Amino acid sequence: MYRFVFTQVLRRFDAEAVHHLTLRLLRLLAVLPFVKRVLHDLFAPHDEALRIQAFGVHFPGPLGLAAGFDKDAGCFESLAAFGFSHVEVGTVTAQAQPGNPRPRLFRLLESRAIINRMGFNNAGAAAAARRLRKPRGVPVVVGVNIGKTKVVPEAEAVQDYVASARQLAPFADYLVVNVSSPNTPGLRNLQAVELLRPLLAAVKEVAGRTPLLVKIAPDLADEDIDAVAELAVDLGLAGIIATNTTIARAGVSSTETGGLSGRPLKQRSLEVLRRLRKKTGDRLTLVSVGGVEDVDDVWERLLAGATLVQGYTGLIYEGPLWASRIHRRLARRVRRHGYTTIREVIGKTA
Ligand code: FNR
Repeated sequence: MYRFVFTQVLRRFDAEAVHHLTLRLLRLLAVLPFVKRVLHDLFAPHDEALRIQAFGVHFPGPLGLAAGFDKDAGCFESLAAFGFSHVEVGTVTAQAQPGNPRPRLFRLLESRAIINRMGFNNAGAAAAARRLRKPRGVPVVVGVNIGKTKVVPEAEAVQDYVASARQLAPFADYLVVNVSSPNTPGLRNLQAVELLRPLLAAVKEVAGRTPLLVKIAPDLADEDIDAVAELAVDLGLAGIIATNTTIARAGVSSTETGGLSGRPLKQRSLEVLRRLRKKTGDRLTLVSVGGVEDVDDVWERLLAGATLVQGYTGLIYEGPLWASRIHRRLARRVRRHGYTTIREVIGKTA
């Protein structure tokens, strides 16, 4: 059904216009408590076998929505009601900003991919905090992903991230330092350990008890991945989210600038996960994201050592019940393989 609507209708409209309409509908749903609860009962993961604990937080299943969809924390409850085990809101920056000029979001249908150069368009940390502090109508695990305000120079990046963390950590189940988006000039330089160490140390300090993770790019050299992994262990971070979008263009025909997500990212994202697992064993929680399309992909990431898995582009191509469907199939697969819980699957082939 969704595929038909997507190929016959949605793809004919500007991608960002469709996104804003979707957000509006989800926000509308968010103010209808009864409908939200019914959807949650129907589509959220409720199977015992899928329950996972990571960095002290209980997740009803492994598959969550990656950052970038609900940038302003406006509809995370509705998204959880449709079946995501967690929703990572943001990227939120300390100051509100408009992002890059449009068009800045492109579908690559044949490649099952997206290119975006949104540039952290968001209403700022104070606005997100106001929404996040409200009581929740359905159970939902919310991560908050923070990034650097564009007009803030690199030399003042630490204070900028700290300002966001201070406002948002109290309302987040986990916090993510995003140093890997390709659409804020200079941002990815912060992945160099000399810059990353003071940044993560300062954010960790203000995050207090809120678990802190760092999100990395797939375009890092292997040695740099190892260096970030060592740093994360050394600083006692909760985990690493791998990966953000790529600036590589292997196998796609588009020349648009920005970050590429979806199927073309799958292989590299898996490679990065395997490398991180080899380096860190079970000392960190690994969250795998990039090119996840179906239950086979989620299963493969779990086997390779991911405790949690996220997706964004898969939702665009497969529709609102994508996560719910995957969770249902995952629970069946756990039992078919003779396991009682998904926890037994994690890292099995690592
Ligand atoms: C993203 N992504 C992203 N990541 C992030 O940390 N902060 C952000 O603001 C955004 N924004 C964003 C916008 C759009 C339109 C897309 C498609 C993606 C990256 C996203 O969270 C994820 O890491 C990648 O998209 C790879 O996963 P998928 O899409 O291949 O499942």
